[in-house]
Amino acid sequence: VSPERTLHILGMAGSLRSGSYNRALLDAARMIAPAGMELSVFDLAPIPLYNYDIEQQGIPDSVRALKVAIRDADALLIATPEYNWSIPGVLKNAIDWASRPPDNPFAGKPVAVIGASTGSFGTVRAQLHLRQILMALGAIPMGQPTLYVARAREKFDANGRLQDDEIREHLHRVLVALREWTLRLQGRI
Ligand SMILES: Cc1cc2nc3c(=O)[nH]c(=O)nc-3n(C[C@H](O)[C@H](O)[C@H](O)COP(=O)(O)O)c2cc1C
Repeated sequence: VSPERTLHILGMAGSLRSGSYNRALLDAARMIAPAGMELSVFDLAPIPLYNYDIEQQGIPDSVRALKVAIRDADALLIATPEYNWSIPGVLKNAIDWASRPPDNPFAGKPVAVIGASTGSFGTVRAQLHLRQILMALGAIPMGQPTLYVARAREKFDANGRLQDDEIREHLHRVLVALREWTLRLQGRI
């Protein structure tokens, strides 16, 4: 098998606000993706709150689209904020919906976790929680390198552009490692 085929990475940000630093981090990742990797971002805004009753009536189109996008992606890149030391409900809700039987698209999926917060720990605690959730889903989170963007207000400009070269380099290292992690898990290297 050839490692040459372009890998499709699905990005998800656990924030819906227009000026989201986590969304901005995914945009930065899209721009600096290494050769052999392309990134698209899935908007979680249309995903309704999980309700078994709704599920019984038929999976909503937005959830079906999310499940297909995850299934079709070679790997995921999740950028999570930290809310009260954990991941935001928006992200947990989307994950819960997508994980529902009969097809859990997270199973065996390579995942890189990154995150930005305005606090000084840069989503360390949220990322640990997210990794725990990913284990429940049978996803295969990459252990290293990690990226914790602390004090995000100082790292992005008013237009959401990443202003910090050190973080950009770090992000690039995460993407290169995710490519290798994915190819390895796919048995291509
Ligand atoms: C409900 C709530 C709880 C928060 N809790 C934390 C926290 O525990 N740690 C932290 O670093 N930032 C916390 N923050 C601040 C977020 O880091 C900040 O809002 C960040 O910009 C969210 O990411 P976003 O820019 O992608 O929306 C919290 C924000 C909200 C709204």
